[in-house]
Amino acid sequence: MADKITVPHVRSRKGGPRLTMVTAYDAPTARIADAAAIDMILVGDSVANVVLGYEDTLAADLDVMIHHTAAVARTEPRALVIGDMPWMSYHVSIDDAVRNAGRLVREGGAEAVKLEGGRKRVPVVEAILAAEIPVVGHLGLTPQSVHAMGGYRVQGKAAETAKELLQDAHRLADAGIFCLVLEGIPDVLAQLITKEVSVPTIGIGAGHHTDGQVLVFHDVLGLHDGRMPKFVRKYARLFDEAVAALQSFVGDVQAGAFPSEEESYHMTDEAATALFKEEPRDDLSWPLSW
Ligand code: KIV
Repeated sequence: MADKITVPHVRSRKGGPRLTMVTAYDAPTARIADAAAIDMILVGDSVANVVLGYEDTLAADLDVMIHHTAAVARTEPRALVIGDMPWMSYHVSIDDAVRNAGRLVREGGAEAVKLEGGRKRVPVVEAILAAEIPVVGHLGLTPQSVHAMGGYRVQGKAAETAKELLQDAHRLADAGIFCLVLEGIPDVLAQLITKEVSVPTIGIGAGHHTDGQVLVFHDVLGLHDGRMPKFVRKYARLFDEAVAALQSFVGDVQAGAFPSEEESYHMTDEAATALFKEEPRDDLSWPLSW
C-alpha cells in the first residue's frame, strides 16, 4: 500500500501529478474512495443536501460534521481526511472558529479543515493555522453564501469580480492555506489563479487547468437520479443498478426463491428428530437431508 497522503505531500503536488478529491460522509463511502486511491477525502457540508435530505448545506452544524468526519476517519484511509467547517462555525468569532476547528480534529479525526470565503476569512485562517491545524480554502461559488449570491451562480464572470477572486486567492495563499478549492468559476480564471498562487488548486466546475479536481461522491457514481450540474461526469449509474438489484430481491422474495437452502441455517437431522419426536409435524419441510 502506498504511503499515507499528508499535507506536505499535497503541497508538493503543485504543478503535478494532478490531485484527486471526492466527498465521503461515512465508512463505506470512505473505503470505496480509498480503495480507488483518491488523494483527499472531503467530508463536505454537502452531507446536508446529498445525504440528509436538506435543501442546501446550511443545515449542517458542527455536531453533524463531527459525526460524519469521525465515521470516515475511523476507516483510517490512506487519503488525507478534510473536515468541512459548516456555516456559522467560523463566522461568529475567531476564538469560536479555532475551538470548532479543534473539535473537528480531536473528535472527528480530521487531518485538515476547509472553510469558504476570501480575504475576510484571513484572520480566521491565520488563527486556525496558529493552532497547528492545516486549512484548505474555498473560493468562487461558495454554497454557504447561497442567499448572499442570490442562488447558485457561477462567480467571477466579469473582469472586476474575477480580479477580486484572484486577489482573494493570493491573500489566502499568503495566509498559509495548503490547498484551494475553486468552485463554479470560468476556466480561464481558474487557470490564472492556478498559475499565480503557490498552493495546489482543486477545481469543481472550474475547467481542467487546476492542479486537481473534486466531485461529490454521489454525483460521480450516479447514486441519485436528481439534476446534476453540467460539470459533473457520471462515471457509473449506481442508482439504476441499485434499483434493479432491489427489484430482483422483491421478485425473489415474492416467488419464494430467497433465501435458498444454502442461504439458511440448519439443524442436524438428529436434533430435528429429537425436536419432533413427541409431536411429528408433516407440515414442515423436514427432514431435508441437509
Ligand atoms: O461540501 C462539499 O461537497 C464541497 C465540495 C463541493 C468542494 O465543499
